[in-house]
Amino acid sequence: MNLKDFWYIAATSSELAAGTVLGKKLLDEPLVLFRDAEGKPVAMQDRCLHRNAKLSAGFVKEGQLVCPYHGWHYGPKGTVTHVPSEGPGKPKAERACNPTYACVEQEGYVYVRLQGNAEDGIRPFPIPNYGRKGWHHVRLINFFRNSVINCAENFVDIPHTVFVHPSIFRKAEYRKLSALVRRVGGNVHVEYQNETSNLGWFSFFLNPKKQPIVHKDNFYLPNATSVEYVFSKHRHFFITSQSIPISAYETLVYTDLTYDYGIWNRITAPLVRWQAQKIIDQDIEIIGNQGDVLKKYGPKFLNSPADIIHVYIESILEAVNRGEDPRALPEKEKQIEFWV
Ligand code: FES
Ligand SMILES: [Fe+2]
Repeated sequence: MNLKDFWYIAATSSELAAGTVLGKKLLDEPLVLFRDAEGKPVAMQDRCLHRNAKLSAGFVKEGQLVCPYHGWHYGPKGTVTHVPSEGPGKPKAERACNPTYACVEQEGYVYVRLQGNAEDGIRPFPIPNYGRKGWHHVRLINFFRNSVINCAENFVDIPHTVFVHPSIFRKAEYRKLSALVRRVGGNVHVEYQNETSNLGWFSFFLNPKKQPIVHKDNFYLPNATSVEYVFSKHRHFFITSQSIPISAYETLVYTDLTYDYGIWNRITAPLVRWQAQKIIDQDIEIIGNQGDVLKKYGPKFLNSPADIIHVYIESILEAVNRGEDPRALPEKEKQIEFWV
């Protein structure tokens, strides 16, 4: 198993409108995306078999991808279906196919997988409560100058919130937080035990009575995190982030905020979007900062007890990089305490 065995978002469904050709990169692999005659998404290597022009600069004609250089046509399976210089109709010679990649559409995303097979149980990540009745949804897309692992780790890192997002997300109160951290089935689950209301200026809306709240952070193999807060019946939200490896230090993060604020769902959407983007902008800066240093010195970390979450996530991705299946790693758990 390696990172190519997983599904990654290559585009949003709306970005890949009928007749559109998109050039994308995933794990350093240039891809071209388009829709076939039935509207199904197709991903193939962004390279023409003829003289190697980028197919992503081409166009779609009747569900076929046409190369911008000499007009060779490609079908959805990568077959060369027409070579204009050989005259009308089918090509005169039998030719190899352009490599294509598995492609599925789910929850408004086009997912691509560079290798793997249908039987290995690897699926695109399902976004919690996406499209569910009573739940609303806001989507954000941002670029980070760092690796997938450091982006994913940031999204479940609590101690940074008081420094990077002061007052917006959390105020420094030097309060002790406890959590149970578990590594199981290639995922990491963190359950906070004594969270109250220290969640910035919008606490008056989310938790006016300052009740104890449910807060769970999860990391899902190899690139998804989902943070869940439950304050009351109609004050419940998830922040799900899928970090897409473009190259070693280039990550595109698709953030989905799914929430149930009852009658306030629609009216709060612009505020949810604005606030989330503000928090993400602060993360972009600090994670880019860290990425610049990691590029030079590589990862050499000194950990505190709160960093066990990072250690577990890293153990999972290290197993993938060793070619192992991290779902088979032994279960581990640890009770931690830290101050924020
Ligand atoms: S390079 Fe694509 S048709 Fe010639
Ligand atoms: Fe953050």
